[in-house]
Amino acid sequence: MRTQVAIIGAGPAGLLLGQLLHAYGIENIILERKDRDYVLARIRAGVLEQGTVGLLEEVGVAARLHREGLVHDGIELAFGGARHRIDMKQATGGKTVTIYGQTEVTRDLMDARDRAGLKIVYDADNVSLHDFDSYKPRVRYVKDGVTHEIACDFISGCDGFHGVSRESIKAEAIKIFERVYPFGWLGILSETPPVSEELIYANHERGFALCSMRSHTRSRYYVQCTLDDHIDNWPDNKFWDELKRRLDREAVDRLVTGPSIEKSIAPLRSFVAEPMRFGRLFLAGDAAHIVPPTGAKGLNLATSDVHYLSTALREFYSETSSAGIDDYSRRALTRVWKAERFSWWMTSILHRFPDTDAFSARIQNAELDYLVSSKAATTALSENYVGLPY
Ligand code: APR
Ligand code: PHB
Repeated sequence: MRTQVAIIGAGPAGLLLGQLLHAYGIENIILERKDRDYVLARIRAGVLEQGTVGLLEEVGVAARLHREGLVHDGIELAFGGARHRIDMKQATGGKTVTIYGQTEVTRDLMDARDRAGLKIVYDADNVSLHDFDSYKPRVRYVKDGVTHEIACDFISGCDGFHGVSRESIKAEAIKIFERVYPFGWLGILSETPPVSEELIYANHERGFALCSMRSHTRSRYYVQCTLDDHIDNWPDNKFWDELKRRLDREAVDRLVTGPSIEKSIAPLRSFVAEPMRFGRLFLAGDAAHIVPPTGAKGLNLATSDVHYLSTALREFYSETSSAGIDDYSRRALTRVWKAERFSWWMTSILHRFPDTDAFSARIQNAELDYLVSSKAATTALSENYVGLPY
């Protein structure tokens, strides 16, 4: 089998890349380790920057997003017993974010790929990458016990943090930057109306809490928990009681609790692999970087990576210029590191760390107080949260 670009992974990065390349007339195939339902069962943040919405519009996959997505002009920061609204739309001259679950983005992209008759090989086992340091890279995989080989011009590793692509790179060719945070997020999904119109990020002495949503009838809540905590320690009523302890009175009075339809604990990490290009292999999305979810940047970095990569590949094929692919890693990492910084900063001012003593608690409070009372600080937070330009 032969194609122009072999994409490893059918998450948001791989699927959006596939649609963009198809729109540019570039043949591609996606190899996915799991089946469709497994990929769709993943619960992930759903805060879309305008750039992400624009890319989905470009590939004709934004109709349901515009019908069902919730456009948010701001967020609220809660600390010291009070809530403070950050008017991001006003601070950025009109930019907003759209709340639309990543699962729905993935579903819409899968449906679009199916409608276009484009190939995704699900349950592709033992994917292996070969000769990507040559002009004739190859990918092998096993499907139903049969080994297949794909000859291609390029390989895009969109296979996430635990994928095979980054692991296929010689250790001496890649540099890793990492920070593992000393806490996790215990998250719950419930068929209950959100406690507030917009997201509430809470700094509390008991730990961080976040009130988010998927729709007007489905809510997503998180509380900071210890790394050694376990979901079995958290029956629903214990979760709701802890969340209430970390919210202000008005939010507690409005909170509608209900049975969890999903509950999980996620670790928090900052991670960047440099560079993001190795000959004819390009890493994109979580395969190359991870951010703590505090800044809601994971999905949006995956989409900006594939924007840079797809335009570079279009330039290669249509103008026989390698300038874009040669500049991909630098360009993508410039935006990645700014989002890493923002996500690390949001995490540092909102969470309780093991060494958060009285002094550092006061510093956090002062930082938050400055943030909500300074136009410059509000603008800086807002322009990062809605998404820096591509
Ligand atoms: N072979 C084939 N597919 C693989 C392999 C492999 N060896 N390893 C992983 N995959 C698949 C996974 O099953 C998954 O469907 O690659 C896909 C990677 O998708 P994501 O992990 O969602 O990563 P990405 O597409 O970069 O999207 C980043 O997803 O995890 C969230 O928070 C993250 O919002 C961010 C977004
Ligand atoms: C979510 O809705 O899951 C969510 C929203 C914002 C974040 C993180 C997660 O910063």
